[in-house]
Amino acid sequence: MKKLAVLVSGRGSNMRVIIDACEKGILNALVKVVISNNSVSKALTYAKQKNIAIVSLDSSVCHKYADIDKKISEILDLHNIDMVLLAGYMTKIGSYTISKYRNRILNIHPSLLPKYGGKGMYGMNVHKEVIENGDKETGATVHLVNEHYDEGQILNQSFVAVKSEDTAESISTRVLKAEHILYVETIKKIIEGDIVLPQ
Ligand code: GRF
Repeated sequence: MKKLAVLVSGRGSNMRVIIDACEKGILNALVKVVISNNSVSKALTYAKQKNIAIVSLDSSVCHKYADIDKKISEILDLHNIDMVLLAGYMTKIGSYTISKYRNRILNIHPSLLPKYGGKGMYGMNVHKEVIENGDKETGATVHLVNEHYDEGQILNQSFVAVKSEDTAESISTRVLKAEHILYVETIKKIIEGDIVLPQ
């Protein structure tokens, strides 16, 4: 059974579907630890209810970026983590953790990368761009995490049609639903060998 870690900052809906998919046996995996840089993240409350180890690394605990980077690696090592899942984690993963866990850290992004990626491109900022540019389709992307925001290898994408009456809000709702399906499906494909991660 694969051991997963999930990193979150906010509401944690992607984290919830991943935990639930493990519980239901859809994923042959176990979420061993949830790490957040926000001690009041709702995701931590949910993970705790599920008896999953939680670690809060907000500024009251950890000040220096390099310390957070090392600490994250230590936690992943401690739990023997096979795969690290960023799910709305709003801080860049440090280079120490990236090099130690290279090609084993995944992220989900609410656009069809390489469109609308990079620093500052998150949440509504992405969906507003889609509307402003009159795009006919958008979607979600699961990709590997490297040292550059949203630039790691694309592993899987899901497409969402944009209708003429759509707003950034209505698109965000549909893309989030697509994300939930896509993230679980991608993790499943990796576990079952249908998507092979580079070594
Ligand atoms: C999602 O839209 C994800 O693509 C992005 O952050 C958001 C997190 O949402 N990286 P949630 O916390 O999983 O509900």
